[in-house]
Amino acid sequence: MNVIRFSDLCAQGKVAGKRVFIRADLNVPQDDAGNITEDTRIRASIPCIQMALDAGAAVMVTSHLGRPTEGDFKPEDSLTPVAARMGELMGRSIPVVANWVDGVQVNAGQLVMLENCRVNKGEKKNNEELARKMAALCDIFVHDAFGTAHRAEASTYGIAQFAPIACAGPLLAAEMDAISKALLNPKRPLVAIVAGSKVSTKLTILKSLAANVDQLIVGGGIANTFMLAAGLKIGKSLAEPDLLDQATAVIEAMKARGAAVPIPTDVVTAKTFAADAPATVKAATDVADDDLILDIGPQTAQALAAQLMSAGTIVWNGPVGVFEFPAFENGTKVIAQAIAASSAFSIAGGGDTLAAIAKYGIEDKVGYISTGGGAFLEVLEGKTLPAFEVLSRRFAG
Ligand code: 3PG
Repeated sequence: MNVIRFSDLCAQGKVAGKRVFIRADLNVPQDDAGNITEDTRIRASIPCIQMALDAGAAVMVTSHLGRPTEGDFKPEDSLTPVAARMGELMGRSIPVVANWVDGVQVNAGQLVMLENCRVNKGEKKNNEELARKMAALCDIFVHDAFGTAHRAEASTYGIAQFAPIACAGPLLAAEMDAISKALLNPKRPLVAIVAGSKVSTKLTILKSLAANVDQLIVGGGIANTFMLAAGLKIGKSLAEPDLLDQATAVIEAMKARGAAVPIPTDVVTAKTFAADAPATVKAATDVADDDLILDIGPQTAQALAAQLMSAGTIVWNGPVGVFEFPAFENGTKVIAQAIAASSAFSIAGGGDTLAAIAKYGIEDKVGYISTGGGAFLEVLEGKTLPAFEVLSRRFAG
């Protein structure tokens, strides 16, 4: 993708003494007391900020946190805990600046965090006046918020239109590169794993991938609907019978291209949805009327693992079973280990997927782990994200 890269501007010496406005995605989970419970996005945002400081810029960083009401700032909307955590990680204190839209005092070598940008009136609707004011704060706008790249808001899109220079930060650029490598120009066979409870929430993704991938592995409730479409019984398992036609259309579209949606040959069932429910492995043809399918069976898992081992590229979104319950984790564990052992380039994203990656300790063995939730899903849907669109337009002229 053709965009201006912040790393190039730094290397060319174009950043020293400049006012740099970084839009990061520091939207991290917090407990009821406001403590940060998971700081991946903060850690992932630091390289860009450090790059700007090392290049001698005056650095402003902002993000949204949650979905506050515009114009109605509440203490829980504040980025103060985020600034504190980032300060700890960077070994410096990071002042938080409120009411910053009309002017920010920051000198070269300094770093300030601009308070939650979503409390500014006009942010969500990408108000032009607000975007122009933000753009006037800087010489260089750096979009480094992949998690928010699917939103066209004033601090992500409008500012990119009006800032003197608009470029991609290292995190956004890395996500773009990984996505291009996996989906635009993949080493084949390209295998995608799409799992989750409902076909309906991932139908666009399934259709889009069906036109591109060589194997489309489905899991969870999605697999149950595909098993129904293949004429198998699924007992009282979670499924969407009204989407059978759509599932069949995906299977047919894949077949027409010489590709396939592998249907499980064995499954792990229980009579109730509970961690201590006795688990039974059975053939996919033997599912009883009162069975709940909670995982793929060991034979299916091994067959899928073999496909992953010979893949050129793997895209992973969603665990294939109820991996939170030890009795039903085998499918997801075997898939995770196969991805880790495979020489394929792999890209993974989505909340549950990241939890599975952490559970099986394979972080270092996945080619790229996306920081995006909704943004990653929209990429899989085949959409051009607003961030990519506006930055490539600014590259062009
Ligand atoms: C996310 O958590 O997925 C991003 O920060 C985007 O948040 P949003 O869905 O509130 O825009």
